[in-house]
Amino acid sequence: MNAFASGAGRAPVALLGCLLSLAIVAPGPALGDVKGLSKMDFGKTKDGETVDLYTLQNGRITVKVATYGATVVSIEVPDRDGKVDDVALGFDSLEGYLGEHPYFGATVGRVANRIAKGKFTLDGEEYSLAINNPPNSLHGGRKGFNRVIWKARPFQAADGPAVEMTYTSPHGEEGYPGKLDVSVTFTVTADDALKIEYTATTDKATPINLSNHSYFNLGGRTDASILDHELTLVASRYTPVDDTLIPTGEIAPVAGTPLDFTRPTAVGARIDKMTGDPGGYDHNFVLDGRPGASATVHDPKTGRVLEMTTTEPGVQFYSGNFLDGSNVGKAGVTYKKHHGLCLEAQHFPDSIHHPNFPNAVLRPGETYRQTTVYKFSAR
Ligand code: GLA
Repeated sequence: MNAFASGAGRAPVALLGCLLSLAIVAPGPALGDVKGLSKMDFGKTKDGETVDLYTLQNGRITVKVATYGATVVSIEVPDRDGKVDDVALGFDSLEGYLGEHPYFGATVGRVANRIAKGKFTLDGEEYSLAINNPPNSLHGGRKGFNRVIWKARPFQAADGPAVEMTYTSPHGEEGYPGKLDVSVTFTVTADDALKIEYTATTDKATPINLSNHSYFNLGGRTDASILDHELTLVASRYTPVDDTLIPTGEIAPVAGTPLDFTRPTAVGARIDKMTGDPGGYDHNFVLDGRPGASATVHDPKTGRVLEMTTTEPGVQFYSGNFLDGSNVGKAGVTYKKHHGLCLEAQHFPDSIHHPNFPNAVLRPGETYRQTTVYKFSAR
């Protein structure tokens, strides 16, 4: 069976997207000629490597992406009165991103989310990863894709200004098998979306799960939490976890639980029922796979709406439970518990240990593809 066959129903859409992107990879015009695209120096890493910041805009929404971690640094969108604000948590300068922070805006990989005990066996070989989230491995290990410099190629895509970021992860990096060539393309589309398309190929079988770790607060740069944001998830099932956030392997209905977001519900409405330490939502929802948005967030105060569409079988809805005030972000705002929420489109966590989950192993000769779109509007 083909890898990533789980998105089978959505394959024609993915294929169309892929054909479209092939059609537009023709040598692009010089950066200055591409409408809505510009580049600036974002500073240097401690090793003296230069980091660039690309700005993609369509006249209404503006997205900035850094080559460090292929990180979405800001997403500026209007509210219902046309007031523009930045709805992504993060920092005003590179320094913040170089320091300790919980993956604000970053591209996470080689395997997003957790691998139990940081160990797995593939094709008879045993592999050990860094236990960077004891007792498990999280988001690619100590120096995941969020901490490397990506090469950038700006271009005019059919649907808007785009930047493709590429990275080659050597065999053995962070303990993973196979040389993996990864590409992530960010496009600001004419219909006010940030589209993120991933592809990857390998020369040896490897687990893979790429995602974006943007934290959204549709209120903008504010002191208010996301608990009043209304969330809809087109997901009638989820993957229950143990107390180290590793799936038990069960796929359970959300009906009758505080994880039922099949109708618009404030994030905070039942969050006190999500007990434990640190409590809150940090779960993989199994998407029903219906056409259209799989997740919708609405901020009643500003009217801003975020709709997420994806080719992935799951989404980690994370309510920012580990935000503890230790990061002071944009405009001097201290990021406390529930200050932002993440919708990490993904294959299910720890898939490598669960044969009943959609396959998340990439083999030589295959191409990994995932497309996730975050569309913004206001009402
Ligand atoms: C993901 C995980 C969370 C947490 C954050 C980063 O969303 O599921 O448990 O690790 O990343 O803090």
